[in-house]
Amino acid sequence: MMDLWTALASRQSAIADRPILALFEDPARPQDFSAQTGDMLLDYSKTNIDADTRADLIRLLEGANLTARRDAMFAGVAINETEDRAALHTALRNLDGGPVTVDGRDVMPGVLETLSRMEGFAGQIRDSAITDVVNIGIGGSDLGPAMTVQALGPYHDGPRCHFVSNVDGAHIADTLRGLNAKTTLVIVASKTFTTIETMTNARTARAWMTDQGGEPKRQFAALSSATDRTAEFGIASDHVFSFEDWVGGRYSVWGPIGLSLMIAIGPKAFRAFLRGGQAMDTHFRAAEPLENLPVMLALTGIWHAQICGYPTRAVLPYDERLGQLPDYLQQLEMESNGKSVRMDGSASPRSTGPIVWGAAGTNGQHAFYQLIHQGTHVIPCEFLVAARGHETELPHHHSLLLANCLAQSEALMRGRHLAEARRLMAAKAFTGAELERQANHRVFAGNRPSTTLIYPQLDPFTLGQIIALYEHRVFVEGVILGINSYDQWGVELGKELATSLLPVIEGTKDAANKDPSTAQLVNYIHRHRG
Ligand code: F6P
Repeated sequence: MMDLWTALASRQSAIADRPILALFEDPARPQDFSAQTGDMLLDYSKTNIDADTRADLIRLLEGANLTARRDAMFAGVAINETEDRAALHTALRNLDGGPVTVDGRDVMPGVLETLSRMEGFAGQIRDSAITDVVNIGIGGSDLGPAMTVQALGPYHDGPRCHFVSNVDGAHIADTLRGLNAKTTLVIVASKTFTTIETMTNARTARAWMTDQGGEPKRQFAALSSATDRTAEFGIASDHVFSFEDWVGGRYSVWGPIGLSLMIAIGPKAFRAFLRGGQAMDTHFRAAEPLENLPVMLALTGIWHAQICGYPTRAVLPYDERLGQLPDYLQQLEMESNGKSVRMDGSASPRSTGPIVWGAAGTNGQHAFYQLIHQGTHVIPCEFLVAARGHETELPHHHSLLLANCLAQSEALMRGRHLAEARRLMAAKAFTGAELERQANHRVFAGNRPSTTLIYPQLDPFTLGQIIALYEHRVFVEGVILGINSYDQWGVELGKELATSLLPVIEGTKDAANKDPSTAQLVNYIHRHRG
C-alpha cells in the first residue's frame, strides 16, 4: 500500500491547478472547513484542501500517535528526549486543574505559590513610585513579554515597560537614556542566567543605576531557573522568581518571565491571559481533529510546507498591537521545528519547519504583498483579525482594517485573469501589442492559499488562546514530522564561536586558526577600530 505521504503528494499533483474558488460550489464549505472554540473561528476554507485530502492529513495524526504524545506532554513525561526533560508550560496556566506530576512530584503547589508571589510583587510595584520597568532578556525571555505587553496596550495601567535584548550597546543606552534610575525597576529575565547578551546588559544596567543614585538591591528582580547565579549576581531572594527546567524559553511567558506583563496589566488581567491559554489546552485535549484549532492549523501547515513544498509562511495580523507576533512566532516555530534530525537520530526524509515571517497589516500591503500576489513563490498567508477594535471612538478605522484583511484573502484566492486585465486596459484606450503588454502586468494568478483566525476582540483571554493555539500547532507539526520541538541545539555553535572570537576581536589573541574570510574581517575591524 502507498504510504500516506506519497498518497498526499500524488493527490497534490492531481489538484495543483484546481482553483480554490471551485471548491465553494459546495455551499457548506465555509463552515465545513472552519473550526471554532468559544467565539474564536479558524477559517481554512481558502486553501486547496478538500475532504479527501483532509481525511488523509488526519490519518497522519494517527500514524504519528498524536493522542499518546499529547497525553504524555500534559502528563509531564520527559518528551524532550535530548535534554531529558518534560515540556510542561501548560502547568503554568493550569489554574484550577488537577495535579501535574514530574518524577513522582506534583509541581502545581510550586507553580501556584510562585504565581501568588508574583502577584504580591506586581501589586507592590504598581502601588509604588516605580514609573518604569526595564526587562532585560533575549529570545523567549524577551519576545513573549515584549509582544504581549504591546498586544495588551488597552489594558496597560501599570508603569511603562521597556525591553532590552540586543547586546549592541545601542539598545541599553537608548533605553536607559531619559529614565530616572530612582524610579526604575530592572528585571533580569534569563532561564539560565548565563546568556551573554542578558548578563552584559544586566551589568551595564546595574552600573547605571548605582551611578545615578538608584539602589540595585531594592530595584532589581530576577526571573530564572538558576537561583544560585541570581544570588551570586546580588539579587535578593525575595526578588527572585524561579521556574523549573521543564519550561522552555520560548514557552515561558506564562510564568515568571511574564512578570513585566503582569506589572503592566495587573494580576487580574494576567490571570485572564492564563485562563485563555488554559481554555485552549482544554480544547486541544478534548476536541475531535476536525473541530480542533491547533490540529487543523497544523495540518494546514503540513499540507502547505511538506506536501505542496511552499518553504515559507506569512503571519499577517491585522492588528497594530500584534506587530511583534511574527517575531514571537519566528522563535516559537523556527527554534522548535527547525531541525534536520528526527527523535531517533535519523535524518528527516522531508522538509521540516517552514520559514515564518510577516508583519502587521495594513503596513505589509505597502511593502511585501506585491510579491505575495504576483511573485513566483506561493506564500501561504495566515491572517489574524478581531471583529472589534478598542478604539470605539474610531469605528471607521476598524471597518477599513477589516475590509483590507478580508480583501487580501479574497484577492489571493480569486486573482485577476488575463481577460479581465485586457478589459481594464481596453477601457484605458490601449490597443494591440501595447494592450497585451500592459494587461500581462495586471494579471494576478490567484489560487494562493490563506487561513483567517478571527475573534471578537484582542483581550487578555483571547491573547492567551492565540499563543497557546500556536504552541500546540507547533507541537502537532513536530509530532507528525517526528522531531523534538523542545530542544534548540542549533543555537549553540554560533555561541561557542562568538566566545572564541571575542579575544581575537579585542586583540588579545591572533586570528591564526580562523578561516581566511574571518581573518580578513578581523583585520578590517582592527584597522577601523583603532
Ligand atoms: O539562544 C537560544 C535560547 O536558549 C532561547 O531558547 C532562549 O529563549 C534564549 O536563548 C534565552 O535564554 P535564557 O533565558 O537562558 O537567557
